[in-house]
Amino acid sequence: MMSGSKRRVLRALAATVASLCGVALAGGQAAPQQTPQATSADKPIMAEQAFKNVQLLRGISVKEFMEAMGFFSASLNANCTTCHGDASSGSWDKYADDTPMKQTARKMIVMMNAINKSYFGGKREVTCYSCHRNADHPKITPGLAEQYSTPLSEEPEEITEQAPNAPNPDQVLDAYLQALGGTQKVATLTSFVAKGTYQGYDDPAEVPVEIYAKAPGQFSQTVHGANGDSHWVDDGRSAWVAQSEVDTPVPLLALGAGDLDGAHLEAKLYFPAQIKRLLTNLHVGFPISGVPSILPDTVGSGIDDRELNIMEGKTAAGNNVKLYFDKKSGLLVRMVRYTNLPIGFITTEIDYSDYRVVSGIKVPFRITKTWVDGRSVTVLNSIQLNVPVDAAKFLKPAAPAPARAAIQ
Ligand code: HEC
Ligand code: HEC
Repeated sequence: MMSGSKRRVLRALAATVASLCGVALAGGQAAPQQTPQATSADKPIMAEQAFKNVQLLRGISVKEFMEAMGFFSASLNANCTTCHGDASSGSWDKYADDTPMKQTARKMIVMMNAINKSYFGGKREVTCYSCHRNADHPKITPGLAEQYSTPLSEEPEEITEQAPNAPNPDQVLDAYLQALGGTQKVATLTSFVAKGTYQGYDDPAEVPVEIYAKAPGQFSQTVHGANGDSHWVDDGRSAWVAQSEVDTPVPLLALGAGDLDGAHLEAKLYFPAQIKRLLTNLHVGFPISGVPSILPDTVGSGIDDRELNIMEGKTAAGNNVKLYFDKKSGLLVRMVRYTNLPIGFITTEIDYSDYRVVSGIKVPFRITKTWVDGRSVTVLNSIQLNVPVDAAKFLKPAAPAPARAAIQ
């Protein structure tokens, strides 16, 4: 059983992007530049404005700060209460109290920054995960079993160059557009309206979800959850997450920096005709198969044993993205994007499966989103293309009304 606080956090992070790692990626990357859109977008609230006791992780948005907490939890295999104490599971205010673990974690941030500064020319080569590898006390002695066993084949963290004999990026993207119904047909796609069910990681209940998207990059998702409606809205310039205060310390958040860049990419992928313009510096790695699924069997990633072409590129804001294409069908089956934070990369993964033809274009009926501390499964049961969408769907959502229920 998961502790209440872990469950709450999974929920807290549920509409929030999160998930991290990308340690090799972490090496030597400059902070992403802001896109022109980002500078004119609705400004996010900074962590030090929203919280009472932020001493080190200042100058990042609340959402990025919460992602950083997810990164700590993932790196150490910890719950929120591991560092914040059991009392924190009952109240967001308690997170401001200093515990010995929290103070140790602060020392670790200072140590990590000092190592990177002194020995790696300021590049973020070492993160919490470099040492901790999913444990509170890093191992000191290499295991002989590990030394003598066949290493597990892992997919590369970063694809840095075009693999010889791999198809070039244009070939892979053309095959994708062809598989969807042809470039011309896909170019006629102007809107996407869908209804279905949404299942969070912590809460097995399937609740209703509605999705509205408009080309080139407006997106709106409403989940009718147990604690009220939650919204994820991208108007093409700004993006917001609105959730009940049971689920988050700050009910309405504007996304900034990498979060905003990632939200824009997710929205634009609903309109694949523009896919060649979304990323730069594209290259395709060695084809791989047997990518381990991080989803339970009941959900299934749709990737399984398929042979995949993995393409890596950068968004306009300089964030790394990997696109996984099924070699046989040509379809996009996974997108992994990285958000650059001072403490490391946050990974967000979206799996697209159950492609079916709607009005002559193939669209995925199942979309699974996974991040450091949560996962959602969206199963669509009706999709309509090119129907009018009310512009009000893409307006900034209101902060949800205060919940009567206390945090469970
Ligand atoms: C490895 C220890 C660690 C873990 C695990 C951890 N935190 Fe934190 N948390 C910290 C530290 C350290 C700070 C203070 C950061 C600073 O001073 O810059 C903090 C601060 C916070 C704050 C700001 C409180 C305030 O008002 O000042 C919130 C909210 C918070 N954490 C939430 C969470 C949540 C939710 C989780 C679980 C996903 C979590 N934390 C997991 C170490 C941790
Ligand atoms: C260079 C390696 C290294 C890095 C980087 C590192 N740690 Fe640690 N950390 C350690 C070691 C070693 C210990 C165990 C020390 C001990 O047992 O006294 C530890 C212990 C801790 C503990 C106390 C665990 C407990 O159960 O008492 C916390 C919390 C922690 N680290 C958080 C972090 C966070 C958060 C980061 C990233 C900001 C981080 N560490 C980065 C090596 C590292």
